[in-house]
Amino acid sequence: MRVLVIGANGAIGKQVVQKLKDTEHEPVAMVRDSDQVAYFEDFGAKTVVADLEQNFEKAFDEIDAVIFAAGSGGHTGADKTIIIDQEGAIESTDLAKKFGVQRFMIVSSMGAGNPKEAKQIKHYQYAKHRADEHLKQSGLNYTILRPGGLTNETGTGKVNLQEHISERGTIPREDVAATLVHLLNNSRAENQVFDLLEGETPIENVLD
Ligand SMILES: NC(=O)c1ccc[n+]([C@@H]2O[C@H](COP(=O)([O-])OP(=O)(O)OC[C@H]3O[C@@H](n4cnc5c(N)ncnc54)[C@H](OP(=O)(O)O)[C@@H]3O)[C@@H](O)[C@H]2O)c1
Repeated sequence: MRVLVIGANGAIGKQVVQKLKDTEHEPVAMVRDSDQVAYFEDFGAKTVVADLEQNFEKAFDEIDAVIFAAGSGGHTGADKTIIIDQEGAIESTDLAKKFGVQRFMIVSSMGAGNPKEAKQIKHYQYAKHRADEHLKQSGLNYTILRPGGLTNETGTGKVNLQEHISERGTIPREDVAATLVHLLNNSRAENQVFDLLEGETPIENVLD
């Protein structure tokens, strides 16, 4: 499949693009700055320069699947959370439908299923929740992945992937990227929502 990675220049996005290059799929890295293109071209990945805050329709041309890993980040205000994590994801879902995309995966956040219970960054969990609900109702073949706290540790290749995990925890970004790539073609991940933490199950065996 030709896979549009939105947020490709991010910590998870970069690893998703790299890992997709090692599969039968063809990643297209969506970046918002032309200075970010060379990084991907160096290992032969295609790019499209487009910004979620502008018209980004062109990015969906001849795309079969989308992995949305963009986010406004913790350093911006609540306005950017709404504009990127919520509205950017919702518009991406709508464009995927418009362009006949088959599959849509999104990096959400643990806790986004129940934003009323959030003790911190409540607006962020509401934004993620709204985007997830829109995707669920879109009719697209979706997977919503809700990782716990992200770290920059090297991935262990082992995770805890379940519909709901009660305890809090962390997971290396590399393992989130590997899980996304592994679940892209897994029929058991279709139209499902998962929490994700570091764990004991090899990523290649999740949902077996
Ligand atoms: N931090 C946590 O503990 C945690 C926990 C659970 C889930 N998450 C979620 O995980 C996801 C990925 O995390 P990460 O660490 O990989 O994030 P990241 O490194 O901050 O990457 C986010 C990417 O989104 C891109 N982006 C922002 N605004 C954009 C726009 N207007 N148009 C196009 N792209 C835009 C950024 O582009 P630039 O590179 O140009 O800035 C960046 O590449 C986020 O959705 C985050 O909310 C985070």
